[in-house]
Amino acid sequence: MAYQPFNLTGKVSLVTGGNRGIGLGMAEALAQSGSDIVIWGSNAERNLQAEGKLTSYGVRVLAQTVNVADEAQVVAAMAEAVIAMGRVDTVIANAGIGGGARSFSEMTTETWRRVMGVNMEGVFWTLREACKHIVERSKAGDPGGSLIGIASLAAIEGAARNEAYAATKGGVISMMKSIAVEHARYGVRANAILPGWIATDMTAGAQDNSAFAEKVIPRVPARRWGQPADFGGVAVYLASDASSYHSGDTFVIDGGYSIF
Ligand code: NAI
Repeated sequence: MAYQPFNLTGKVSLVTGGNRGIGLGMAEALAQSGSDIVIWGSNAERNLQAEGKLTSYGVRVLAQTVNVADEAQVVAAMAEAVIAMGRVDTVIANAGIGGGARSFSEMTTETWRRVMGVNMEGVFWTLREACKHIVERSKAGDPGGSLIGIASLAAIEGAARNEAYAATKGGVISMMKSIAVEHARYGVRANAILPGWIATDMTAGAQDNSAFAEKVIPRVPARRWGQPADFGGVAVYLASDASSYHSGDTFVIDGGYSIF
């Protein structure tokens, strides 16, 4: 019999911020590997477009309009997803926003709280609700699950003028390790992914900046911007049984930028 851990048929994967960028890149690879998909996004029109694309891979797709910075919306959406899809196996807390300042001294409390609301509280509420479902399912005799937090190189490198963003991403790494230890007994693993420079709407300004193109991208050993599709492999691996003993880790996907 062939070794086929990357066939995700029968599994359900939920990706927050799954209607574009890195989240959609991961959702597409998961769908192409047979996983049913739930995507959350705050923009209903973009959700619809992504839903159409994902459905074309022949899997069940549920697109929910959810603001992850709103606890009640997250609680309701997770419960609805479990009912609609029957279960959730993999949850990727990917929705995130940038939020820098001209300098740390000038960073406003409004910026700090806005970034914390999506990148930290949003991840907390998403994963807490996922754990409630998975622990309950596990206690009913059906264990297992994979939780993934999307952090950033900003968590481990000094991201000047981005202290709020960096703090949330460092927080994601720490949260995943705590979740990993606490939930291993339920067959759950929890890991963080740290993207490098990826060409998405979030980095549109940097992509259009000639100084950035001259000074930063040549320092990426892979000599190019990362693409959303570059996150398909790690998403499928972490959603699959191939990673059943891999937990509490950080996956740096940056074309070698951080080690050059
Ligand atoms: P993006 O801006 O293209 O996509 C962000 C996604 O999150 C969108 O689907 C958006 O609708 C969703 N989102 C934002 N706020 C939301 C909210 N309140 N509720 C629900 N959904 C919300 O950005 P990208 O680049 O795809 O980023 C994805 C993740 O990767 C983020 O957590 C980001 O911090 C992280 N990241 C991105 C890097 C890059 O170079 N693009 C580098 C390092 C980390």
